[in-house]
Amino acid sequence: MKISLSILNADFSNLYNDLKEIINDVDMIHMDVMDGVFVPNLSFGPDIIKSLRPKTDIPFDTHLMIEHPLKYLDDYIKAGSNYITVHYEALDDLNEIITHLKNRNIKVGISIKPNTKVEVLEPYLKELDLILIMSVEPGFGGQKFDSSAISKCKYLKEKQKDYNYIISIDGGINDKTLPLVKDYVDMVVVGSYITKAKAKKEAIKTLKNIK
Ligand code: DX5
Ligand code: ZN
Repeated sequence: MKISLSILNADFSNLYNDLKEIINDVDMIHMDVMDGVFVPNLSFGPDIIKSLRPKTDIPFDTHLMIEHPLKYLDDYIKAGSNYITVHYEALDDLNEIITHLKNRNIKVGISIKPNTKVEVLEPYLKELDLILIMSVEPGFGGQKFDSSAISKCKYLKEKQKDYNYIISIDGGINDKTLPLVKDYVDMVVVGSYITKAKAKKEAIKTLKNIK
C-alpha cells in the first residue's frame, strides 16, 4: 500500500524537524490547503510547500480545499507540486483546470466529499491521474472514518483497468480502517495516525505491513 503523508497535524513550529525522520519513508507528501470558505478552516498556502520542496524528492500532492482553484493553480505549481488535486464541488470548470495542469506537466487529481456521488466523475475519468475519495468531511485532521467512502473506491477499482488513475482515500485512516479499503485503493492519505504517533516510523511500518 502506498502512503501519502498529510502534514496538516504536524508541528508547524518545527515543521521540517518534525518530519525529517519519516519524510523519505512515504510515497507522497499530501499538502492540505484550506481557505476558510470552501471548508470551515484555514491551513497554509504555497510558502510552506515551497519551504519543504528542497528537503526531499518525494512527490508532493497539493489538495486544494478552496473555492475558485483555477486562479491559484500557478502559485501551487511554482511552489513545487507534482500533483494538484481540486474538488469536484469547487466552482470552477473542471475541464479548464485539467487542461491548465496537463499543459504544465502537472498530474491531475479530483476529490469528492462524502455527500458527492462517485458517478459524477465519469466524464473526467480518462483525464485523471489521481482520484481522492474523502472519508471525512474536509476541513480538519483527526476525524472519524466515514465508511460511505468504501463503495466509491470499489466502484473506481472495478473500472480502473480501462484508465490510468490512482485511487486514493483521505481522512481517518489508521491500522483499523486501512483493512476496510486496502483491496480498493492504491494509496492512503494518512495524517494524525502518523504525525501524532510517539513512534512515527513504527506507525508507517504498521500500515505498510497490513496485508
Ligand atoms: C481533511 C484533510 C485530510 C486530513 C487527514 O480535510 O484533507 O488530508 O488532514 O488527516 P487524518 O489522517 O488525521 O484524518
Ligand atoms: Zn487532504
